Amino acid sequence: MTMDRYVITGKQRLEGRVRTSGAKNAALPLMAAAILAGGQVILNGVPRLTDIINMAEVLKSLGCKVEFLKNEMKLDTSTLTGYTVQEELMRKMRASNLILGPMIARCGKVNISKPGGCAIGTRPMDQHIKGLKELGVTIREKHGYIEARAEKLRGGDIYLDIPSVGATENLMMAAVLAEGTTIIRNAAREPEIVDLQNLLNKMGAKVRGAGTHVIRIDGVSKLHGAEHIVIPDRIEAGTHMLAAVMTGGDITVENVVPEHISPVIAKLRQGGAEVIVNGDSIRVRHKGKFKALEIKTLAYPGFPTDMQPQFLALLTIAEGTSILTETIFENRFQHVAELMRMGANITVEGRTAIIRGVPTLEGAFVEATDLRAGAALFLAALAAEEATVLEKVNHIDRGYENLEEKYRALGAKLHRVVKHS
Ligand code: UD1
Repeated sequence: MTMDRYVITGKQRLEGRVRTSGAKNAALPLMAAAILAGGQVILNGVPRLTDIINMAEVLKSLGCKVEFLKNEMKLDTSTLTGYTVQEELMRKMRASNLILGPMIARCGKVNISKPGGCAIGTRPMDQHIKGLKELGVTIREKHGYIEARAEKLRGGDIYLDIPSVGATENLMMAAVLAEGTTIIRNAAREPEIVDLQNLLNKMGAKVRGAGTHVIRIDGVSKLHGAEHIVIPDRIEAGTHMLAAVMTGGDITVENVVPEHISPVIAKLRQGGAEVIVNGDSIRVRHKGKFKALEIKTLAYPGFPTDMQPQFLALLTIAEGTSILTETIFENRFQHVAELMRMGANITVEGRTAIIRGVPTLEGAFVEATDLRAGAALFLAALAAEEATVLEKVNHIDRGYENLEEKYRALGAKLHRVVKHS
């Protein structure tokens, strides 16, 4: 894989309108759900991102047909023949584990290579596995593979020890074709799960309760094709909102569902930014100093862990001392060392970062270690004096569609240096 870099000249005031793309984390499970359909599934508003392309590759490797034009994706899974996802594809993207549930429901068998840990934590799959067993699936874990087999799926009563997003999605997709009723308790409540419920129901499934802690699925014998528009990406929208604050700018973010980012809105207002919500757009303006905050990441509707690195970047230049606690992932502070290269003053103790605001950040050579850490450094570079060279921006490409175009249109000074390996 080539690893490109951005060269960003900071301290440009960003101004104007920017449109949020469809949500990557909604599109990925929706693509997996297409496996369950007897017919064609058409998804609109699918962002053109490497994670999405990789998921399309996984589906193609199993024999499905995927057409992806602009932001419309047509999936025909009637030609599906394979049931083993190669390790190489799995390694590219851990979200490919989302095919586990729909594959077992459709084919009664699936093998995936076990996803390893990643830059932010060990990320086990015990909750997915526990839930599938409850539905009658036999799981064997050997040679780094998870082999799942089921003669027939039956409804079950599942209690998740933690409200895992991926486990909730996998179990919903497995249960829609099971015999009888499935209850998922302590389910994750993220908007992406509601979006999945909506597509599944359009396909003929009977799912209720997504968005609450208890999801009830009445199994049906068959599903059909459907068409669906992916919800807007709340993390992308939140990142643009922070860009407005960090550059003393004035940005209107379009195509957002404000209630999906209520913790971001609340924290920005608490720090002194002006946030004006108007239907599906949000205008953020800021002048002067932003005030220090206390933030703790939690499962939805709490403060999203995927916005933690970006907020940490903002708090490095806030007035006073901030305290930021990460409760979802055990190792999600890799951006800290890079931000310190830019002049930030941060101490990490366990899962808590103490951030003492400095007057300004300075451009430096820094490296993106994962997607959201990359977004944090991108924002820091926009606010910093002089130029920043941000390495390994391919991590950012996993989650932000047309980032350069969008930011240039807002007045940012940046260019990409393509590295050929
Ligand atoms: C999804 C998002 C990711 C986001 C995360 C938390 C997608 C494609 N990705 O990831 O961007 O950061 O939600 O909001 O939607 N866990 C277990 N056992 C399990 C499953 C999870 O211990 O079986 C732990 C994880 O290690 C992690 C926590 O639970 O510490 C949350 O993980 P989970 O909600 O499953 O996140 P993902 O679905 O992987």
